[in-house]
Amino acid sequence: MVTTKRRRRVGVVISGSGSNMTELISAAGAADYPAQIVVVVSNRPDAPGLAKAAASGVPTAIVDHRAFADRQAFEIALHAELVRYDVETVCLAGFMRLLTPWFIAAWRDQLINIHPALLPLYPGLDTHARALADGVKLHGCTVHFVREETDTGPIIGQAAVPVLSSDTPQTLADRVLAAEHRLYPTALAMVAADRVQILQHDDGRETTRIDGEYGQPGMLFWPAG
Ligand code: GRF
Repeated sequence: MVTTKRRRRVGVVISGSGSNMTELISAAGAADYPAQIVVVVSNRPDAPGLAKAAASGVPTAIVDHRAFADRQAFEIALHAELVRYDVETVCLAGFMRLLTPWFIAAWRDQLINIHPALLPLYPGLDTHARALADGVKLHGCTVHFVREETDTGPIIGQAAVPVLSSDTPQTLADRVLAAEHRLYPTALAMVAADRVQILQHDDGRETTRIDGEYGQPGMLFWPAG
């Protein structure tokens, strides 16, 4: 008898180009990927990611925040759209609205974000320019569970890239984005396969333990020598 493993139902929420979304859809195209992308929701009707999702055959929905009286009304509609597709886990991928505690609580431990910096360094905007201004030699991206405070929450995975002396915010952003495209599908796969355990510490900190980590723990040196 052929049994098909149940795949986690994932909704991706975007505001813009949707390149991370495209990578998630592409990864989920593999039969053995533990998640399926069941809907892409955008708060911007003109988000280029919407057409890309539709071209991949993924259902799309628009919940335009400007059509709602306040943030909570917008989020109730967003939530309803996700529930309509029986979404179990939500991936924010270039979603540019702040979420209220209500929405974050409604999706607690099933709401994931990608941030273009090695958190807890550089929460917020303009991460690449800030990294360049500080002269750090390594920069990168983080996939994490969402908590109330912006760009906090238990870290699921990170990827680091070198910072070159010749970098501009744009060249650094391009290098980090390429890392994001590898990291996000990997991190979602771990969550969807129930390999990520959230650890609550006595002092209130939250971290994660990844079951079955594998690979070669190496070192990334920059400059290389
Ligand atoms: C990414 O850098 C992501 O980390 C940030 O916004 C950007 C979205 O890019 N939150 P895309 O829409 O996935 O192309």
